[in-house]
Amino acid sequence: MFDLHCHILWNMDDGAETMEKTIEMCRTAVKNDISIVAATPHMTDLRRTDDFLYTRNRKITELNRLLNAEEIPLRICGGAEVYLNDWIFEADDELAELTLNRSRYLLCEYSLRLFDPEKAVLFAEEIAERGLVPLIAHPERYPTFHEYPDIVPELYDLGARFQVNADSLTGRIGENVRDFAVNMLTNGFADVIATDAHGVNHRKNDMQEMKMMFPPVITPEILRYTTETVPLYILKNEPLPRNPFRE
Ligand SMILES: [Fe+2]
Repeated sequence: MFDLHCHILWNMDDGAETMEKTIEMCRTAVKNDISIVAATPHMTDLRRTDDFLYTRNRKITELNRLLNAEEIPLRICGGAEVYLNDWIFEADDELAELTLNRSRYLLCEYSLRLFDPEKAVLFAEEIAERGLVPLIAHPERYPTFHEYPDIVPELYDLGARFQVNADSLTGRIGENVRDFAVNMLTNGFADVIATDAHGVNHRKNDMQEMKMMFPPVITPEILRYTTETVPLYILKNEPLPRNPFRE
């Protein structure tokens, strides 16, 4: 399977602190049948894309070289978790380099504080107008989405897609978060499940263990679709099929 949201690069954000921890996360990924990880450090300042890309790309090259040398069967590709605010309107063409594996899919996140849902639409529209597809990270975690659930179909209709976190589905961060995530998947609004792992102790990328804690309505078909089928389309930069779980 593929993990399209993971803070696996060392010393870039609040993810892995050291290269040793990065390698440990890589080994956990392999143990959990993950073959490709998109490195998606937080990108919180769109005015400093240059520095971010330079550091990220250098670390990915170094890490892939090391994985090869150690014969760890895992590949790391580029990505970012882009924090959406008004700077998105000023972003230059380098925004395209923040996409997942240089595809059209840009992993984005909103504020975890309550905000005007109209802003969510404006930011996503701006990305779509640049020919990119906003892949909204963990919709189940935004209080704004709980407060204004109609935002989900509105964003979907303008071309956004959604990625749910595996640990949200375990119920570890609350029942309402889990239920929102489950509804997104069973109604065919979420196309991707990823780990959003941040380290080796908590918020880990132990996908198989987390899967055992998912509610049974998350069927093997939904799991295959969201962790294999769709991520592969994204990595190959192909348009996504119509979600088969959509009524
Ligand atoms: Fe994240």
